[in-house]
Amino acid sequence: MCDKCKEKFLITTPIYYPSSRLHIGHAYCTVATDVIARYQRMLGKDVLFVTGTDEHGQKIETRAKETGVSPKQFVDGIVEAPKGVKDLWKLMNVSYDRFVRTTDDYHVETIQKVFRRMYENGDIYKGYYEGMYCTPCESFWTESQLVDGKCPDCGREVQPAREEAYFFKLSKYADRIQALLETPGWLEPASRVNEMINNFIKPGLEDLCVSRTSFTWGIPVDFDPGHVVYVWVDALFSYVSALGFLNDRYQDYEKFWPADVHIIGKEIVRFHAIIWPAFLMSMGMPLPKRIFGHGWLNFNGDKMSKSKGNVVDPYLLAERYGVDALRFFMIRTFPFGSDGNFTNESLISCINVDLANDLGNLVSRTVAMVQKYFGGQLPLEQTEDPEKDDELITLACDLVHRVSEQMDKFALQNALAEIFRVIGRANKYIDENEPWRLAKDEANKPRLARVMYNLLETVRICAGLLRPFMPDTADEILRRLGNPDSSWESLGFFGTLYRDAKAENGPALFPRIDAAKELEALEALMKPAEAQKPAAEQAPKAEQAPKAELPEPKAEIDFDTFDRSELTVVKVLACEKVKKSEKLLKFQLDDGTGTPRQILSGIAKYYQPDELIGKTLVAVTNLAPRKLMGQLSCGMLLSAEHGGRLTLLTLDDAIPAGARLG
Ligand code: MSP
Repeated sequence: MCDKCKEKFLITTPIYYPSSRLHIGHAYCTVATDVIARYQRMLGKDVLFVTGTDEHGQKIETRAKETGVSPKQFVDGIVEAPKGVKDLWKLMNVSYDRFVRTTDDYHVETIQKVFRRMYENGDIYKGYYEGMYCTPCESFWTESQLVDGKCPDCGREVQPAREEAYFFKLSKYADRIQALLETPGWLEPASRVNEMINNFIKPGLEDLCVSRTSFTWGIPVDFDPGHVVYVWVDALFSYVSALGFLNDRYQDYEKFWPADVHIIGKEIVRFHAIIWPAFLMSMGMPLPKRIFGHGWLNFNGDKMSKSKGNVVDPYLLAERYGVDALRFFMIRTFPFGSDGNFTNESLISCINVDLANDLGNLVSRTVAMVQKYFGGQLPLEQTEDPEKDDELITLACDLVHRVSEQMDKFALQNALAEIFRVIGRANKYIDENEPWRLAKDEANKPRLARVMYNLLETVRICAGLLRPFMPDTADEILRRLGNPDSSWESLGFFGTLYRDAKAENGPALFPRIDAAKELEALEALMKPAEAQKPAAEQAPKAEQAPKAELPEPKAEIDFDTFDRSELTVVKVLACEKVKKSEKLLKFQLDDGTGTPRQILSGIAKYYQPDELIGKTLVAVTNLAPRKLMGQLSCGMLLSAEHGGRLTLLTLDDAIPAGARLG
């Protein structure tokens, strides 16, 4: 398809404050956006992925003063310097197409013209600002918006401020904004819509202060030079200055605007879903098609903050485990729309379980067997006996549709879960077919070739679909399969590989990590003083097998005692956090009886409720009911503890609710 005929897709991340080094939370937002951008490119779209830095404002001016440099030198030191913002995106393999800095001349030109236009059409007027200002957030708040007298976003002190200022008539747009917020699918996840309506629209929108006179590090209002433009006007219009709107630097505005999606963190939804559309309405510009407000990454249950000394350094982790492992961990572990709790344990366990064990083993076992039994190349004469393999083939064949369905909803975690379901099934297929047994008898060779072919095809499809998430790893897997077709169209077909497919082994894709040792090393490295050490000095060593800490054995029981336990297959109908409890999740489960069973389980640290809905689990259903936090729990869900993580026992979805184990 020619470039002109391709469907356009404009995707943005927030532009980052370069007031200090970026942490893993920032990397989360940008990597997730990168995954979506890469996926859209795979679909064949003409994608423009815009990111950048938001370099003006009082906070930056103050930080520069403290450091004894000019504000521009200060931001240059964070944006362009080694290990700065641009370097981080390079390290994380972020495939942005355009990087806008709000100190760039073309951007300044756009902002001055925008401000003048909104003023000339009567939406900006001069007055006095009197209110409370949060310097770190660069936000004005009314008394009624403060929480315990502090900034509702960051909880820090706010200062009273009175100065001459320009105001934007936000109140004028309240009805149109409410209708926009209520448009299904415009702002996602849906919970953010209620937040916006209840917290901001219902109490009444107030006009917004859009200029400051008490500091100078900003874009001057060209017709009133004592004023600098409010940082959020400056920042939001970067999405279009980066396209060449009201400047000559680029010519992409007509082609790409409106944005297909703005990906942003939850705390800046207000600016994107209320203030931004009002500005655009005032300018007579089209509105973005979708906005997605993702959750926050906390560290060990606490908000990451420099003052707490608990910010997680993405350089440190990427150098130790590889960029793809880090990218994968963030998307696989946390549902994109909710907050996630980053722990070192969960990171290591994810690498060991999903990457080393499930994916790594599937690839290395498959390729090694093709090498061992066929010298790396499958024989041409394969008999067809598809009936035996229907389940795996159908699962792999339809995977592309299931992944698309999730990706189109930005349910990135679910898309990976779908891929890993097939990886798990393929590992099981190896165990069921026992290629090593087939290899013992020459008469079984055609069947053996068929089994290996099915595995190679499944690996090809999974690797192709993993490309947006782990670009280098996916390419390496495909290289080991002889670089077969991995175009999007080919991923929906089983049988694309040549019949005489080749395979070549290589070193472990993800060496298994000794969890106990590694946790100790990581904790030491993350202590602020220690964190400066070059991480490469202590790279993890590949291990043959995990060294799990075995618990004390329990006393022997006879069969009858065991047999008195009723182990039942259950399906999760609903799941939610128990109020005031950090540990408990409350489940409504289908146990096959027709009446939902309620069970409370202390696993809130390890799972987000949403990710469990629909899962097939195992429960002890004849335990005497008991009350936890005042609520009845009728049974217990089975789980395993390993490497500091807790994993629920899940079963194949084909097993119906109510089936008994034993
Ligand atoms: N400069 C503004 C955005 C202007 S967009 C026109 C800004 N910058 S920021 O650097 O503070 O944040 C950039 C993004 O990083 C935001 O989407 C924010 O939600 C995200 N994150 C910052 N800390 C985060 C976590 N701990 N976890 C996940 N994302 C977080 O806001």
